[in-house]
Amino acid sequence: MDIFRICGGNPLHGKVKVSGSKNSALPLFAASLLTEEETILENVPDLSDVNFMAEILTELGAKVIRISSNSWSIIPSSIVHYAPYELVRKMRASICLLGPLVARLKRAEIPMPGGCVIGNRPIDLHVRALEALGAKVQLSGGVVKVDGKNISGNSVFIGGRHGSTVTGTANALMLAVLTPGSTVLEGCACEPEITDLCHMLESMGANIQGIGSHLLKIEGVDKLSGCKHRVIPDRIEAGTYILAGAITGGELTIEGIDFGHMGSFLDLLKTSGVSLVPQNQSIISSVPTSLKPLEVVTLPFPGFPTDLQAQMCALASITEGLSVITERVYPSRFMHVPELLRMGAHISIEGSSAIIRGAKRLTGAPVMASDLRASAALILAGLAAEGETWVQRIYHLDRGYEKFEHKLQKLGAKVERLPESELPKSISSANN
Ligand code: EPU
Repeated sequence: MDIFRICGGNPLHGKVKVSGSKNSALPLFAASLLTEEETILENVPDLSDVNFMAEILTELGAKVIRISSNSWSIIPSSIVHYAPYELVRKMRASICLLGPLVARLKRAEIPMPGGCVIGNRPIDLHVRALEALGAKVQLSGGVVKVDGKNISGNSVFIGGRHGSTVTGTANALMLAVLTPGSTVLEGCACEPEITDLCHMLESMGANIQGIGSHLLKIEGVDKLSGCKHRVIPDRIEAGTYILAGAITGGELTIEGIDFGHMGSFLDLLKTSGVSLVPQNQSIISSVPTSLKPLEVVTLPFPGFPTDLQAQMCALASITEGLSVITERVYPSRFMHVPELLRMGAHISIEGSSAIIRGAKRLTGAPVMASDLRASAALILAGLAAEGETWVQRIYHLDRGYEKFEHKLQKLGAKVERLPESELPKSISSANN
């Protein structure tokens, strides 16, 4: 396992280019199973989650070729309906295979992806959609088994207690496009990643109305064809770099942004005092004056994204005054908080809110990453902290940020990836 050593206190300067979106790319790989023909995906981020997905598709029988570092070809001429637990358990997004497998083969067997450190992640809404379309779903021996012999179009509401479900909407949609008859999906997620999926399905020949809204109307077709599709930019990665600039008091140009995907986040940062100047598809971010405290509530799109909440906690930790960050999507997604406390942050958790009293400075410390976005938050905190921060378990980071340390190094950050054996003895023995 690798670790990061960060020497903080350096304002970041320069240009950074945003990669393709992880949360778009993963369902798009799954969608390629809806046809026997070749799908070419471009602007795919180079991430461990993408490699896991490619391995799963290969295991299912598809011919998966990496054409270049960011382009893939998938030819699923002949596939099977079951995926192995060993691969599926590594990545929650593998649940997105259910819809395409049932649509194409009329059955699927996918092991439940299992628990997750960011909170409870049930699949009841996925199941509701499958059953509404006539599939029989049972959980047996930890495997979700779906019999889709008798599927037909129907109307179903797929919203839940915490709002809409992103991968649940993707599953319902991917099933509906090849299901005979008309399907109406109400309460859909309208995240940009779902819109991206709709666009790819359209270029495969699917008939979808209401793209970008909570109400999708789908007219099932008999067959879909292959296509070439470019993955949208990663709005969460873009936001993470904007926050890296703000937390270090530097000036960054972040290239390859889709502004339509980031309204709530950009608006909040402007309110706090970050200067954000758009320029074509780039944004120049700097911090002209001291920042004001933040009031954040995470919500489904177009609200403030939960996937930037941890990084926002890092920024609030050194923003003078009292910030309140409330998590509405995953109410217990605060695993980064105890680690930020180790660096001198003043944070208390009240229900699903983090109450943060900005400290004058953070100090470097050994910290443990618990999940993808927590890793990013700890690295941002380390960049702003005085002294040395050691971030352990950064394999979480490799799931979702392409070449993170290289991009940060080009901006002047003192961050390096090291083998775990380089961890100072005093820290590794404290872990035991
Ligand atoms: N939910 C249910 N029942 C369901 C499905 C979801 O109650 O059947 C609840 C969840 O427990 C949660 C809320 O609905 O409270 C939203 O969950 P959602 O299903 O939208 O999450 P997801 O599709 O599993 C995707 C992203 C996550 C991101 C969430 C929310 C992918 C591969 N993952 O997960 O990304 O946090 O949407 O935007 O698209 C990340 O990138 O770090 C990450 C965790």
